[in-house]
Amino acid sequence: MKMKLMPDYTGKVRDVYDLGDKLILCSSDRVSAFDVVFSECIPGKGKILNSVSALWFEYFHGIKNHLIETDARKFPPPFCDDDYFPGRSVLVKKCKRIDYECVVRGYLSGSAFKEYKKTGQIAFADIRTGYRESEKLDEPLFTPATKNDIGHDENVSEKTMKDNLGDSVFSFLKETSLKIYSEAASKLSEKGVILCDTKFEFGFLGDEILLIDELLTPDSSRYWDKETYSVGISPPSYDKQILRDYLEKTGWDKNPPPPNLPQDLINELSLKYNKLEGIVRSCLSEK
Ligand SMILES: Nc1ncnc2c1ncn2[C@@H]1O[C@H](COP(=O)(O)OP(=O)(O)OP(=O)(O)O)[C@@H](O)[C@H]1O
Ligand SMILES: [Mg+2]
Repeated sequence: MKMKLMPDYTGKVRDVYDLGDKLILCSSDRVSAFDVVFSECIPGKGKILNSVSALWFEYFHGIKNHLIETDARKFPPPFCDDDYFPGRSVLVKKCKRIDYECVVRGYLSGSAFKEYKKTGQIAFADIRTGYRESEKLDEPLFTPATKNDIGHDENVSEKTMKDNLGDSVFSFLKETSLKIYSEAASKLSEKGVILCDTKFEFGFLGDEILLIDELLTPDSSRYWDKETYSVGISPPSYDKQILRDYLEKTGWDKNPPPPNLPQDLINELSLKYNKLEGIVRSCLSEK
């Protein structure tokens, strides 16, 4: 029987069920871009995101994370009896979220490239002149942003984040983010895939800091194919950049209501997400 319990919080993409000290994060097939959710769903997306995230959490098991259970049949009742949850949900430790998105960029793309062209900076960090769109940065760059419940997330300087969180928490978040990015990027590179950028979230459980939310999914990361990558363009991607590029062309002002998505684009996104899951799975199954 397919039923669906009412979530306590509906994120843009995930439905969150609050179990007191635990959460169930359930990935829907919804798609968002520029912080706006579209009316159309991308078939299979929720399960793919959930699976990609679980694969990466397993790979980075040395870094403490929020996962308790990935098998929905072992969730507490009534969730274990609901056919909607398997494959798209995880049971996690509920943490006090640290309200920063820990963004790491290995390449100059998207909003960061736009900002660089205008100001010569990325998230208040000065970087050398002369980069072209999508070019690899000399070093991966940590460009944090605040997590705003209302409106768009905003870039912050490292100094602001450090003043706010203290040196040791700041350094832990920055170093852990850069380490995960670099390891994941080099692992994917063996499979002909470029990890352009990604973002992490962390939370406190008591005094401990855990990696939370989703990990290296096509919603939180930009994945490119080496074969179609080139500098000076926005390369075709395995993620919602396809959707962002389409939207930029429509001239939509990025405020609700969103435009309808053509079926061809929905199919293309669905295919790309599927392909990416296969790549990540085969990449991480090799020792
Ligand atoms: N272990 C955790 N403890 C507490 N909160 C968590 C944990 N893991 C994820 N979250 C939060 O659960 C929500 C998941 O929903 P989703 O990502 O769809 O929301 P969203 O609309 O993207 O909002 P946000 O911009 O806050 O991420 C996010 O707010 C995320 O920060
Ligand atoms: Mg989110």
